[in-house]
Amino acid sequence: MAKTKQQLSPIEIAAKKYARYRDPLIMVLHEIQTTRGYIPREAAFEIAKLLNVPLARIYEVITFYNYFRLKSPGKAVISVCTGTACHLKGADKLVKEFSEELDIEPGQTTDDGLFHLQSVRCVGCCGLAPVVVINEKTYGKLQPSQVPHVIAEWKEKFETETADAAS
Ligand code: FES
Repeated sequence: MAKTKQQLSPIEIAAKKYARYRDPLIMVLHEIQTTRGYIPREAAFEIAKLLNVPLARIYEVITFYNYFRLKSPGKAVISVCTGTACHLKGADKLVKEFSEELDIEPGQTTDDGLFHLQSVRCVGCCGLAPVVVINEKTYGKLQPSQVPHVIAEWKEKFETETADAAS
């Protein structure tokens, strides 16, 4: 059965979006850099598989352009879509809510390095507006009242990972 848009990873969404181009690699990398804040290793592998491009070629492109980063600006990169559809559905309120909850402005990272907040343009699933992408997870129709819960969910995930690593 085909995946719904919410089930697709941001990379699958980007690959679909640029599928009609002869060489979609840079566009897909750009999209991932924009939503994730960097190009994760697993993303490079997924792109290689989806676009049928050698991994070496992907790293050649990433390291050639200064724009691309190989390190995350925060453990979780929160990308609030402020494209037209999301803007009309209240994306600004989401930016404000994340900003207040984390005490950072878009473009900043929390002091503990856990969260990086950024606003991005259309992530390709306007039907789910307003959309927020956090690392590999897409939140559709997110309401400002759900923001504290989303942050708590990620904090819990990080705490579990830390506890697992210590045991
Ligand atoms: S405008 Fe937000 S997903 Fe398209």
